[in-house]
Amino acid sequence: MTIEAHSGERWGTRLGLILAMAGNAVGLGNFLRFPVQAAQNGGGTFMIPYFISFLLLGIPLMWVEWGIGRYGGRYGYGTVPGMFDSMWKNKIAKYIGVIGIVMPLVVFIYYTYAVSWMAAFSFFSVVGDYFGQTTVDQMRGYLVDYQNIFDSAIHPGWVTLLFFIATLGFVTWILSRGLSGGIEKLALIGLPVLFVFAFILMIRVLTLPPTPLGSVSEGLNFIWNPEWGKVLDAKVWLAAAGQMFFTLSLGMGTIHCYASFLTEKDDVALTGLATGATNEFAEIVLGGTVAIPAAVVFFGVEGATAIANGGTYDLGIVAMSVVFQELPGPAFWGQLTGFFWFALLFIAGITSSVALASPAMAFMQEGFGFKRRSVAVGVGLVALMIGMLHVLLYTKGWYAEWDYWAGTFGLVIFATIEIIIFSFIFGVDRGWKELHNGADIRIPTVYRVVIKWITPAFLLILLGWWTVTAAVPQLLMTNLTDQSQVMWRWGARLMIVAMLAVGLWLIKLAWDRRDAANLQRGG
Ligand code: TRP
Ligand code: TRP
Repeated sequence: MTIEAHSGERWGTRLGLILAMAGNAVGLGNFLRFPVQAAQNGGGTFMIPYFISFLLLGIPLMWVEWGIGRYGGRYGYGTVPGMFDSMWKNKIAKYIGVIGIVMPLVVFIYYTYAVSWMAAFSFFSVVGDYFGQTTVDQMRGYLVDYQNIFDSAIHPGWVTLLFFIATLGFVTWILSRGLSGGIEKLALIGLPVLFVFAFILMIRVLTLPPTPLGSVSEGLNFIWNPEWGKVLDAKVWLAAAGQMFFTLSLGMGTIHCYASFLTEKDDVALTGLATGATNEFAEIVLGGTVAIPAAVVFFGVEGATAIANGGTYDLGIVAMSVVFQELPGPAFWGQLTGFFWFALLFIAGITSSVALASPAMAFMQEGFGFKRRSVAVGVGLVALMIGMLHVLLYTKGWYAEWDYWAGTFGLVIFATIEIIIFSFIFGVDRGWKELHNGADIRIPTVYRVVIKWITPAFLLILLGWWTVTAAVPQLLMTNLTDQSQVMWRWGARLMIVAMLAVGLWLIKLAWDRRDAANLQRGG
């Protein structure tokens, strides 16, 4: 076997690595998706399966993904096909790894589009553009107008497109500057700013005076007091486990890619745990203390829950934009607070976007020897072309369809496959040893059992349950209210299938190329 240094790049510092990994995990999911999931599933009731999912899915999978990534990196691989290939001597291993390149690219495209809305709303806040849309319905109309580029009642369609192109251009620029000069630097600057903004917002929300509808303490009560009667509801468990995957960026291939730039002497046990904990701090303490309590103060618990049921963006974008207009003090303070909120979301999102693009970047470099800059521009252009479909077809359910299959269901499939490979094919004994190479802590021994039996069993049950109760109705679109979307949504699915097919073909080409090179060297 020939071992070539994988793209020659390394993380600059340990702090940089931790912040980059935290930037990967901390995203829109922490501040938009988490409060909505919690509110939709009974607040405190949601937190119980959520914590259990952290202990039995989140932490073990985090270690497994760091371990797989660093192991593959030693064999010159930065992406999952090569990692699976080095752990499992079977021809199909590398092809199974296709999900670790294509799914993050799929999510990258629609996620970056959502991040571009945050850029737009930061701008709209500073200039006070939405001030005057003072009810939830008006504000929802404002957002829908922005998302539907064929509706120019408030903004012409090109505004939406412009923010998307600018955001994608910025991501492409960061990617072209490389690992330590681009991604790590972005995290070193972005994450501290993010935490400061989040802290300011948290204080602002905690000091809000009560209104006739609600108060901060009612909001905190809602998110921290479980209704024990509902804890056994399967729907709440599926939502909690799904959120755990989404927020920790598990089941994607991006953590593997970042970890592949480590050496055998670098710790993964403590660092993996530290980034997971950082994400949970950002999610529960910061994410949980802004949107929900603020919405409860101005709309009451019932009002906030009703808003959350409208969708992922209704609490964080719609309700918050109304809240900014109702804050005590001059309007300018509301505008500024709005800017902090949306800029926070933008920073959180952009550090996740660069992570999502990384597997595709690394694969084209290691598999075909292309230069980083050309690959960054290539990935940016592909994302722009395919992303145009999201811009044009958002209202047809194109985005929602991709989000479900790649961003929700796909993660669980991927995680199930990887933990089976890790625990049963690679072997939990080798795996356990691998995790402890260079480790700064000893992982508690119970996690050997968790990684081998409990996490896989949990995942299989989850997957079975999910397939029956959620994926099948979703696949058949029986629960779709707007049946005119059916054709478009099939188009969206076919596009993912086509991208997977291209991915498989590229994997074959890359391996043929590698074999030819080895043969020439007489290897
Ligand atoms: N964790 C990100 C968030 O909370 C979203 C996400 C899911 C992600 N999977 C990812 C980001 C993979 C980067 C890489 O918003
Ligand atoms: N629509 C998803 C859900 O609620 C959430 C989602 C998709 C999301 N993409 C996102 C949330 C990006 C935050 C950021 O199931």
